[in-house]
This record gives sequence, C-alpha cells and structure tokens, in this order.
Amino acid sequence: MPREVQDHWFKEAKRQGYRSRAAFKLTEIDDKRKILRKGRRILDLGCAPGSWMQVAAQRVGPGGLVVGIDLQPVTGNIQGSEVHIVQGDVANMDDAMLQQLGLDPQVPFDVILSDMAPATTGSKDTDHYGSMNLCEQVLDMAGSRLCVDGDLVIKTFEGPGSKDLVDRMKDMFETVRPAKPKASRSVSREMFLVGLKLKPGVVTESRPSAPKGGPPPLPGGWGR
Ligand SMILES: C[S@@+](CC[C@H](N)C(=O)[O-])C[C@H]1O[C@@H](n2cnc3c(N)ncnc32)[C@H](O)[C@@H]1O
Repeated sequence: MPREVQDHWFKEAKRQGYRSRAAFKLTEIDDKRKILRKGRRILDLGCAPGSWMQVAAQRVGPGGLVVGIDLQPVTGNIQGSEVHIVQGDVANMDDAMLQQLGLDPQVPFDVILSDMAPATTGSKDTDHYGSMNLCEQVLDMAGSRLCVDGDLVIKTFEGPGSKDLVDRMKDMFETVRPAKPKASRSVSREMFLVGLKLKPGVVTESRPSAPKGGPPPLPGGWGR
C-alpha cells in the first residue's frame, strides 16, 4: 500500500479517536454485512490494542456486550456498551473465565470477531499455517460459544489451507463471504472471511461445564 494511503488511514484513525487503523477494516465489513446490531453480544478474539472493540461497542450500544481477549494488555476505557477485557491466550478461554467476569457461560454470543494473527516470521508458509491454526481454534469456539444464527468475522493469511478453511465454514454457516477491506494493505495476504448465520446443530466441541460451588480463582495470566 502506498505510504500516502497508509498515512490516510493512520491520520483518519487518529482524527476519529480509534486506537488503530484496523477499525476501518471492521467498519467496512459491518457497513456491508450489518453484523454489529444494537444489543448484540460480541466476543472479540485478539482484541489489542482495542480498535475493533471501540467499533463494536459503539455499534451494539448500551444494551450490548463486548468481551475482548488478547495476549497483550488493553489499556484505557472502551465506551459504548458493557465491555470486559481479559489478558490471556484464547486457547485457555473457558466457562470459569466468563463466570469471573460475571457472565453466564451458558448464554452464547451473537457474534465472534477474530483479527488474531500469529507473530509473523517473514516466511509466508509459516505465517499462513500459524494463521490457519488460530482460525481452527476460532471455528472450534464458534461451535460452542456462538448462538444459532450467530455471525463470525475471521482474519486469515491466504495460502494452501485457505480452501479447507472456507469449506469448513460453509459446513457451519448458511453464507460465507470473503472481504478485503480498503484499509487492508493490498500486498498483504491478509484476508477476512465472514460467516453469516450459524446453522442449527453445529457443535464442534462441547462447552466445558461450569464447576459447581462458584468460580475458581482465575488461572495465572488472566487479567481484568
Ligand atoms: C492485528 S492485532 C488485533 C487488532 C485489533 N483487532 C484492533 O482492532 O485493535 C492481532 C492480535 O492478536 C493477538 N493474538 C494472537 N494470538 C493470540 C492468542 N492465541 N490469544 C489471544 N490473542 C492472540 C495478538 O496479541 C495481537 O494483539
């Protein structure tokens, strides 16, 4: 992407108070697909520094909920809806973590967002398979945490495994669409997949049951 275009998104993010230019990728996808509807419950995987959470919280509004998870800390407040942020690995997300936030783990989310990316190595294949691994985790989670008719936005680095990923999503969702937002660098192999309306009966893994007698202490690494 030419430097002046990068500067455009950077300056625009600053002007509109977003934490990063990534905000415009989600706004473009949502302007078209209307996923972040008022009152919905959103799970944002790989949420730091928090610009997707800003967009999601503004759009779902005061009656909605946004829960974000990232290995990195997210600082400051996110305005617009009820918001919870956890520092940790998505692979460790379980019922106890949601209970610790005061949420009922049996109530599914309406939308899962994943802008997760592996630490890039410069090797296209390594980065692609790192991304595939994260995407598989997200689809497993969609099977257990997303409601029927729920929606998913997921980032992937294109490569040999992309077709299998799309096929798996087509088994799970009524509609699957690719998205390459303008704010995404044209040279990047980053691309987004949107799954609309989780089909009934799609459960890829059983939800870990809540421990009896109240939530245990958070495992090491889980933050606020
Ligand atoms: C491109 S950034 C997300 C940007 C975010 N959507 C925003 O708008 O601010 C990707 C994030 O994925 C996170 N990530 C990667 N693997 C993760 C994992 N296993 N668990 C939690 N977060 C992860 C990284 O720490 C990084 O902050």
